[in-house]
Amino acid sequence: MANPNVGGPDAGPVATDPTPGKHPIAPLPFDPTRLKGLSEKLLRSHHENNYGGAVKNLNKVEEELARVTKDTPAFLAGGLKERELVFNNSMVLHELYFGNLGGDGKPGSAIQAALSRAFGSLARWEELFRLTGMSLAGGSGWVVLDYNFQSRQLRTHWSGNHSQTAASSQPLLVMDMYEHAYQMDYGAAAAKYIDAFFQNMQWDEVHRRLERAERAASALAT
Ligand SMILES: [Fe+2]
Repeated sequence: MANPNVGGPDAGPVATDPTPGKHPIAPLPFDPTRLKGLSEKLLRSHHENNYGGAVKNLNKVEEELARVTKDTPAFLAGGLKERELVFNNSMVLHELYFGNLGGDGKPGSAIQAALSRAFGSLARWEELFRLTGMSLAGGSGWVVLDYNFQSRQLRTHWSGNHSQTAASSQPLLVMDMYEHAYQMDYGAAAAKYIDAFFQNMQWDEVHRRLERAERAASALAT
């Protein structure tokens, strides 16, 4: 993905952004006609309307925030800051989500070993990840496997909305459980969508994110 916000700790020092409201919409990182069990129509709609909508709204909010002065009522500024967080996280999580799709669903030996160390076995991790996803069926939210920079542990987290990600962590695998991610293809059958998600997982990207997070954790410790 082109957006540097998923570039992680390797991206260097704090970036400068003198022009708010200029976040680009990253293209889908895979051919949407080739995924198993997720239609091109669904994927394009999700990308254009939900992800693209979040980016556009974030840009608008940033433009409004640039106009805030010391005389702006605090409740107006607070409302914009709340929307900034929601749209920013929606943008980032959607880019991570699309970035961990488009694969063959087969994990390599290194990421299998990491998950087995963390959860006892790959099967146990998958069991808990799927169950966390099903807890959001009929509702909305995200399921995130992340690497925590403080504990250096892997955890699967539930997020009821865009603003409940775990502190001090790098998402490694992100599953969108908002109904817009599957309703067009599966109606309310969320379990079938989770099956399709697993069939199309891009495990190499998950492993790459883990390696980068581990390097960053080591750098933080020095
Ligand atoms: Fe979504």
